[in-house]
Amino acid sequence: MSQPIPTEKTFSEAVRDRRATPHFLSDPVPDSDLKKILQAGLAAPSGYNLQPWRFVVVRDPAQRKRLREAAMSQPKVEEAPVVIVACGDPEAWRNGDLDEVLQLSRHYGFHDEKRLESIRATVTNFFESAPGVASGAAPDFAVWVNRQTMLAFTTMMWMAEVLGYDTAPMEGFYEDKVRATLGIPDHVRVVALLAIGRLSGPDKPFAGRFPMNRTVFADSWASPLT
Ligand SMILES: Cc1cc2nc3c(=O)[nH]c(=O)nc-3n(C[C@H](O)[C@H](O)[C@H](O)COP(=O)(O)O)c2cc1C
Repeated sequence: MSQPIPTEKTFSEAVRDRRATPHFLSDPVPDSDLKKILQAGLAAPSGYNLQPWRFVVVRDPAQRKRLREAAMSQPKVEEAPVVIVACGDPEAWRNGDLDEVLQLSRHYGFHDEKRLESIRATVTNFFESAPGVASGAAPDFAVWVNRQTMLAFTTMMWMAEVLGYDTAPMEGFYEDKVRATLGIPDHVRVVALLAIGRLSGPDKPFAGRFPMNRTVFADSWASPLT
């Protein structure tokens, strides 16, 4: 039997080839590929499986033009056919998501009700006095939603690269202006923007990375991994 023609890059190839794309062609991303990219991100892990991420997929040209203004006029926001605006909702867990997550567990065959109730108590306790913060202090929800949302965001970026698209992650935006443009509620954090499409013109050269022994340590902070 003949082998199927490979249409996806391997993960190693994607890691080798990816650059933060400076300019995009207007060629559209087919819906089937966009769904694969989004689905990959939504399959990312999150603490207690709470999935506090939310994504606004911006394709409408007029809306991308408005979004560009909120993103410090970065041309790629208007050029790329798709911009995914990654958000995190720090309140979602108490506004129904925890119940829904427990219900999902039941749907997927998790029927130990005692254990599910203990998860509910643990999660509630976690948010009311999170580990890593002084006892009684409010947990740092901004860090928490950022941690979860960036995993899904990054998984989308890699899936887009594996499918042969070019991507550009962005933090250059005014959060309040992005919220106003897209109708995002005030309590929701806008974490990052991801433009997806096809490179236009020359790619940015690789700018290098610190050597491993500069940023990775073995067993304690004092000893670089060699
Ligand atoms: C979270 C994040 C935010 C970024 N924000 C911007 C941005 O707003 N505008 C921009 O031109 N590049 C942005 N970049 C791209 C970085 O400058 C780029 O990834 C870095 O210089 C390394 O280059 P490379 O990705 O091509 O290897 C961002 C990258 C990341 C990961």
